[in-house]
Amino acid sequence: MNIKRNHPSLGRTMVVRGFDCFDTPPIALEPLFIHEPLLVGVTAICEPFAGAGNLVTAMRGRGLIVHASDIQHRGCPDSITLDFLKMSKRPSGCDVLLSNPPYAETMTMIEHAFQLGFRIVVFLLKANFASTEERYERLHPTGHLRRVHVLAERLQDMHDANFTGKKSSQPAEHSWFVFDRSYRGPAILNPVSIKNPHATMPWQPLGRCAQCRQTYPRQRSTSRFCSDTCRQRAHRVTLRRKLA
Ligand SMILES: C[S@@+](CC[C@H](N)C(=O)[O-])C[C@H]1O[C@@H](n2cnc3c(N)ncnc32)[C@H](O)[C@@H]1O
Repeated sequence: MNIKRNHPSLGRTMVVRGFDCFDTPPIALEPLFIHEPLLVGVTAICEPFAGAGNLVTAMRGRGLIVHASDIQHRGCPDSITLDFLKMSKRPSGCDVLLSNPPYAETMTMIEHAFQLGFRIVVFLLKANFASTEERYERLHPTGHLRRVHVLAERLQDMHDANFTGKKSSQPAEHSWFVFDRSYRGPAILNPVSIKNPHATMPWQPLGRCAQCRQTYPRQRSTSRFCSDTCRQRAHRVTLRRKLA
């Protein structure tokens, strides 16, 4: 059944969607490599869902060794044809996997990657990936989700290569999810921007109120009170002292 709509994936069955051939605009990598500390010093990466090779070519352009494969040959240079679920060992000297995987089987892919001994798995996924009951039971108890780099912009030009209908603008938000086999704990959310990849959040500094001693987000470095109420209380205290 082919549902007539502009969104290339929504509402289409797996039979129609096939292998989820959405190729990533390489620009999505910029904020990830700038902000993800676990990628610092990494020299070899496995991209087992290489597709047309968008991420592979961009990462090779950064000087990385990229071991590329896909279940079908879709034009990625220097790649092999392999079903990732049949991969039985990691490429030698490579323990980091980075990709935009087929979304229907993401959990299975993460689990298989860790079974193969990958240390770090980085996936570009829909921003709501972490929120289903299945994830609550199957992903979160592992505590391996370490960081989510939330993309400010939607990734335009990421269409199903097999979809021939009219292409619409991107309906979904995406984020880079970083899974770390040695980590057990809550994830950190890091907002990033493709348009301004070097930007970091100007986290508002916390101040301690000179009256109630509670911490509060300080707008100005000279501010001393968390609220007008505390400012007035402090003023009354000063007056009383002067009158005494
Ligand atoms: C969402 S596309 C992403 C392509 C590429 N990673 C990118 O970001 O441009 C997913 C790719 O995974 C491939 N794929 C689907 N199931 C697979 C499997 N079991 N093993 C290996 N590749 C698979 C598809 O052929 C498709 O090229």
